[in-house]
Amino acid sequence: MSEFDEKLDRRGTDCMKWDVADKAFGAQDVIPMWVADMDFPTPRAVTEAIIRRATHGAFGYNVVPQSYYDSIIGWMQRRHDWKIEKDWIVYTPGVIPALYWAVGAFTKPDEKVLVQSPVYYVFYNAIAARKREVVCSELVQSEAGYHIDFEDLEKKLSDPSVKLMIFCSPHNPVGRVWTREELLRVSDLCCKHGVLLVADEIHADLVWKGHKHIPVASVSKEAAANTITCTAPSKTFNLAGLATANAIISNPQIREQFCEERRKSAIHSPDTFGMVALEAAYNHGEVWLSDLMEYLEGNYELLERYLREHLPEVKPLKPEGTYLVWLDFRSLGLDEEGLKQFLNQEARVAMDQGPWFGAGGQGFARMNLACHRSTLQDALQRLEHAIHKGK
Ligand SMILES: Cc1ncc(COP(=O)(O)O)c(C=O)c1O
Repeated sequence: MSEFDEKLDRRGTDCMKWDVADKAFGAQDVIPMWVADMDFPTPRAVTEAIIRRATHGAFGYNVVPQSYYDSIIGWMQRRHDWKIEKDWIVYTPGVIPALYWAVGAFTKPDEKVLVQSPVYYVFYNAIAARKREVVCSELVQSEAGYHIDFEDLEKKLSDPSVKLMIFCSPHNPVGRVWTREELLRVSDLCCKHGVLLVADEIHADLVWKGHKHIPVASVSKEAAANTITCTAPSKTFNLAGLATANAIISNPQIREQFCEERRKSAIHSPDTFGMVALEAAYNHGEVWLSDLMEYLEGNYELLERYLREHLPEVKPLKPEGTYLVWLDFRSLGLDEEGLKQFLNQEARVAMDQGPWFGAGGQGFARMNLACHRSTLQDALQRLEHAIHKGK
């Protein structure tokens, strides 16, 4: 039995995923498999470090210690073969704020930002908040999974008003871990057409057997000079509530322009507990992370087997990275409203609905696998019951 087999009740902890799910999905007693956080406690070393700091009792203004930077530098080197320097690391209170700042700092109101749909819907919000225009290069689905239509991507990047691309790597929701060849091509195209690449690599550590995350900024000198990499320990170690992330920017001009935008928000250094948790996670979390990935693989095996045996109508796409599974419900023949009604009211399984992710999302839903196996089992039984009831 692993520590992930112990069931954690998150209800009544002001938890977005569990405590507001019924309200958000307009149904009673839904099983929450939406928000991308985990139903597992963070590694014990992280909790212990937080408790140690808390017992000190004084929580005045911070400075950021060298050990904070060292833990990020060490993690990137060990896990991603990426050699970064202290000066490149810029604190942000989340990846989302970093995306908003990047759009604000590097585009003007009449300029455009490219994304690859279907994609994490907050990308659209970051662009809309600054009243910039979204340009979509849709990912293409084939038998082998999703891939990039490079011809379409180049056509769209060559529009002189496209100034920024927000790149999701690994990709939420389709779970791709991009290969070196794909990363090089994306980066080369951005450099060729003068488009700044903002890589959201928040899922970088959650990579499945047989795949390797490569930071896009590490693929070439040109990529390094033209990329803002957004990272965080929050997805990996379930720390999103501690609001601590970092942008890694090696190009000093780009870094300064980004920091100027950050200064306008009057944000400078991390929260005390966020810093302590990041250090403990990056310094002591590796064994826990490999146990986590094993548990997630077990959850995926259950999902895949259950669907194959009981619900062949629903097709899962095996993720290469992330703990999110893109489920294809198109064979049910339901329109957007019909699928929403079906999932929320009949199955009562709360999942992120495909259309939230933009073009290409119709007929899909995103299931969060980072839950206790019994929660997944219950959700699958509800789906089966709801589908077969209608027959
Ligand atoms: C691709 C991606 N980026 C960013 C975030 C959220 O980032 P943060 O909580 O650090 O603002 C998520 C959360 O689901 C995500 O999936």
